[in-house]
Amino acid sequence: MQVGAEKIVVLGTGGTIAGTAASAEDTIGYTAAQVGIGALLDAVPGLAQAAGAAQLVSEQVAQIDSKDMDEDVWKALALRCAAHLADPGVRAVVVTHGTDTLEETAWFLHRVLAGARHKPVVLVSAMRPATATAPDGPQNLLDGVAVAATPGAHGVVAVAAGEIHGARGVRKVHPQRLHAFDSGEAGPLGWVEQGAVRLAGGWPAAAESADSALQAVAQAAAWPRVEIVLSHAGATGRAVELLAADGVDGIVVAATGNGTLHHRLQSALERAQAGGTAVRVSTRCPLGRVLPRPDDTLPDARGMGPVKARVDLLLELLARA
Ligand code: SIN
Repeated sequence: MQVGAEKIVVLGTGGTIAGTAASAEDTIGYTAAQVGIGALLDAVPGLAQAAGAAQLVSEQVAQIDSKDMDEDVWKALALRCAAHLADPGVRAVVVTHGTDTLEETAWFLHRVLAGARHKPVVLVSAMRPATATAPDGPQNLLDGVAVAATPGAHGVVAVAAGEIHGARGVRKVHPQRLHAFDSGEAGPLGWVEQGAVRLAGGWPAAAESADSALQAVAQAAAWPRVEIVLSHAGATGRAVELLAADGVDGIVVAATGNGTLHHRLQSALERAQAGGTAVRVSTRCPLGRVLPRPDDTLPDARGMGPVKARVDLLLELLARA
């Protein structure tokens, strides 16, 4: 260990990258979130070299399958990230995470971490468990640490399968293949090639309201409840009525096309909104964004897909509390 060396802090949260299976051939019947972050890093040859002059240190923030991610883990993770980013001795934060909700965590961290304005927060995941014959986690860790060590890197990004994705664009698009993420129409921010970063554009800017958003998260006694519903052929609106009756604070609707809704769902959402539930209209189309019309009765989600629109509404309601 070098005295006074800068640190790259790796925060473990679980996921397939830390998963184990009974046999090396099994890449679907495994249990996520089994290997501790220290052991995970120790198993990757060359990781210390990828960190360059920085010293790698690790901390276990959670140990979960990311399908079970919740707001309390987000809060704990955001506060640990913020504390490390504020430390002048920390160069970057790397977060190991499951792939299933990685895009939501990435967007949440982007929205609340002002410290990412000058330092990178790099989310690293894997599609195969650590016990697989050819796991992808070690290479993703090497690439993620290489991004973290890159001079000038900043913002919240995800690194997987040799690609660097920004928090705004990143989304999981495939349930099994190793190349499971893309950034939609925007494309990746760049690539990691033999340990070196090649950028297509710039690093992402931090969110402007991140300071106040983090404060609201830190002070939150209880989280608002925001649910997602989908418009589809035969939609009844009954789910919305039940949610509103149950006191839900916000509903994001994944609409068809350019924000269109089954007429029964539209009526139920308008009644919910009149009753005080915050409603945002996103689209279930994987590309593009909803272009709002002057006669819309329900506000649109400002270009965000359903799961990231939910994060935005959660933070908006928290700021109002
Ligand atoms: C998870 O999201 O924690 C499990 C699935 C994965 O990481 O690919």
